[in-house]
Parts: sequence; structure tokens; C-alpha cells
Amino acid sequence: MKILGIETSCDETGVCIIEGQKSENDTTLTVLGNQLYSQVALHEQYGGVFPMMAKREHAKNLVPLLKKCLEEADLIVERKLYRVDSTNINKSSVDSLDITKNILEREPELFVELVKLLETIEKPKIDYITVTNGPGLEPALWVGVTFAKALSQAWNIPLIPTNHMEGHILASMLKPINNMSSQIESTKSSLIPSAIYNLHIVNYPALALLISGGHTQLVLIKDKLDYKIIGGTRDDAVGEAYDKVARMLGLPYPGGPQISKYADAWKERNVPVQTFKFPRPMIHSHDLDFSFSGLKTSVLYTLKEIPEITEEIKQEIAYEFQNAVIDVLVSKTRTAIFDNNIQTLIVGGGVIANKEIRKALSILATEMKIDFQIPEISTSTDNALMIALAGYLNIEAGKKPTTDFKAFGNLSL
Ligand code: KG4
Ligand code: ZN
Repeated sequence: MKILGIETSCDETGVCIIEGQKSENDTTLTVLGNQLYSQVALHEQYGGVFPMMAKREHAKNLVPLLKKCLEEADLIVERKLYRVDSTNINKSSVDSLDITKNILEREPELFVELVKLLETIEKPKIDYITVTNGPGLEPALWVGVTFAKALSQAWNIPLIPTNHMEGHILASMLKPINNMSSQIESTKSSLIPSAIYNLHIVNYPALALLISGGHTQLVLIKDKLDYKIIGGTRDDAVGEAYDKVARMLGLPYPGGPQISKYADAWKERNVPVQTFKFPRPMIHSHDLDFSFSGLKTSVLYTLKEIPEITEEIKQEIAYEFQNAVIDVLVSKTRTAIFDNNIQTLIVGGGVIANKEIRKALSILATEMKIDFQIPEISTSTDNALMIALAGYLNIEAGKKPTTDFKAFGNLSL
């Protein structure tokens, strides 16, 4: 089964085509094409992501990325007879393609590019399309969902929506088969190294800790694809706290990788004396909720007291802030594992790209003698591979295709 995944929930535009093959005791996933365009450089200038700007960038990039992805997957068959000049696209060719009016009205440029593509290539051999319909920035989600619906309609390929957070959870199931990837690379140079994956077998009940720019959640997974949120943040998400603290320190967006770099630099110095001490919010509360805004405010007040903020001070603050975050994450996760007889700890979300957080959670799983599943760094931050995978597993499990869904910024698991 070949499935096309589309991701536009925040500031990464992702398009990916995978082929899944299920055997008696294994599932093999081959990544046929995987394209990701990061808008970070654009948003960096403004210190954060503006939803309408993100939407415009997705609209500009979706068609070129889809085309590249189809090329990479060797799924392009040109329709020479029907080729049209894009400047000639008129109302009648629009009607004949019967593409959703939404794109026509709200994204005319995307519409023109899409029509150009649709009129120049044959329907590709893809069995399903899946698209992130939430959670995320609503305008950004909207453009991906509308685009996916248009493709589904024009090519008559069934469509299913995918929850972005489920994508982050399932990304941890990808187990690269490295010895086979070299074979693929020799024939298709553009494929990423881990192009073929098996899926990890998960022992249930499992617990997922999801930490991203928009979410901090503990999710109980009693069985395959069965999710229940048992803990969450009352204010800022972990990634958001990283980004805000980075801004206070004058570091560029996205702040997570910057804080991480500064914290590493301080650790390497091995300074025995600690100047700053930040709170570990809610670490002793008897629930599974988080709060990071107090920690962020504490950093702010500390900075106000310092007349000159040197690079060393930035490093030490980043280090202590990160330690506070890690202490809280580890403590709450430990409680959730203990209370729910968890067999597997899964972690996901962009913040999981942080190597100290990865290490601390891996140590926790070892201590508690449970399995640990974590995505590779490349599939930790937003990407379309995890969306295609989630779509594939849901279809395998019997989820029915539908076009009756909308982009929903607050979509829950
Ligand atoms: O999952 P993601 O790519 O997008 C959302 O769905 O939010 O996560 C992005 C978040 C940002 O807040 C970014 O600063 C954070 O992940 N992040 C990191 C690191 N790399 C990305 N945070 C800490 N350390 C990192 N190395
Ligand atoms: Zn994400």
C-alpha cells in the first residue's frame, strides 16, 4: 500500500510517500520520497511563527514539494497530450478539474500551480492520501487540508485525516534497517539514509511523553492506537518555554536548539559553583500536570537583576533552565509510569531533539526496567513521514477514508 502524507501544522511543509508491506510478523515501510521545507529562516527574522505567513509559505511550497516527492518516488508519468500553458488556465479548465472552490478563492496562486501539475501528470499510483488536520496553527493546517482534499478529489484517491500528535507518538516506532538502506541509496541517490524501516513491537500499556512547541502531554496508550491524555501543561508548553527563554537571552528563533547549545557549553566548562537556581514547578504536586510559566518568569526576574549579561551568564542560565525542565519531566513521567504499570515509555515532539532530555528519559526507562522508544533526531521534529506512517497504521486498523473533516487547531488525541 502506497500512502502520501502531507504536513503543514506549523512552520515545516512536509510531503512524504511511503510504501507499507505487512507480513505475518513484521511490517516493512519503504520511504519512496520525503520532502521537507523548513520556514525557520523566514520566521527567525520576526522571532516567532506568524500563522498567516506560515500559511502563505505552505501555499507556495506544497506543489513544488509534491512534484519533487513524486519524482523521487518515481511516480511521475507525464500527460503530454493534455499539457496546457499555465497562463491560459481559465474558468472552464478550472471547472473541468472540479477542484474545491476554497483554494480558488483563497489561494489563487496555489490553485494555478496545482492545476498546472494536475494537467501535466497522470494520476500517480498512490492508494491513500493522509493529511494533518490538527492540532496546530489553524491557517497553516487549513492550507494543507484543502490541498489534500483537492488532490483526493482530482485523482480520486481516498483521504484520511491524521492527528499531528499521533504522528509524533508513532514516529518512535520506526526502526531503521540500515544494512538495506545502502542498497537503496546506490540506486536512488536522493533518498535519506534510513529509507527502509521495520516497526518496533510495543508492549502495552505504554506511556507517551509528548513535548513540542505547542504541547506537553502524558498519554496513556492501553493498546494499539488507543490514547488517553492523563497529564498536560496548564500554561506554556516545554518548547514554548525554551523559545521564550531563548528570546530573553537574545538568542534567535527557534530557541530550543540554541538553549541546548548554550547549556552544553556550560556543562563542558565543568564549573563547580552554581550561581543560579530556578524552581521546578509542580514537581511535588500529586497530579500529572505541568506548568512552565513560573520557571520562565523566574528566568526573567533573574535577568533583570544582572547589569551585564555575558555569554557565560547566558550559558549558565540555559544550563540551569534546562536542568529544571528535565527534573520536572522526569519526575512526572516516573509517577505516570509507576501509577499505570507502564511497559514502554515512548517520547515524541520537537523538543525530543534535545540530547540531554533524550538521555535523561532513557536513563529513567532503564531504571524502571521498561522499554524505551524514541524517534531518530530527523523524525523528532515535524515531518510528513510520521504523518504518512500514522495514516498507514490507521488504515491498516480499519479507519475509513473521509473528506468530511476540517482543519482544527485544538484537535485532541
Ligand atoms: O514538534 P515541533 O517540531 O513543532 C510543534 O509541533 O510544535 O517542535 C518545535 C519545538 C520548538 O519549540 C523548538 O524550540 C523545540 O521544538 N526544539 C528543541 C530542540 N529542537 C527543537 N527544544 C529543545 N532542544 C532542542 N534541541
Ligand atoms: Zn510537532
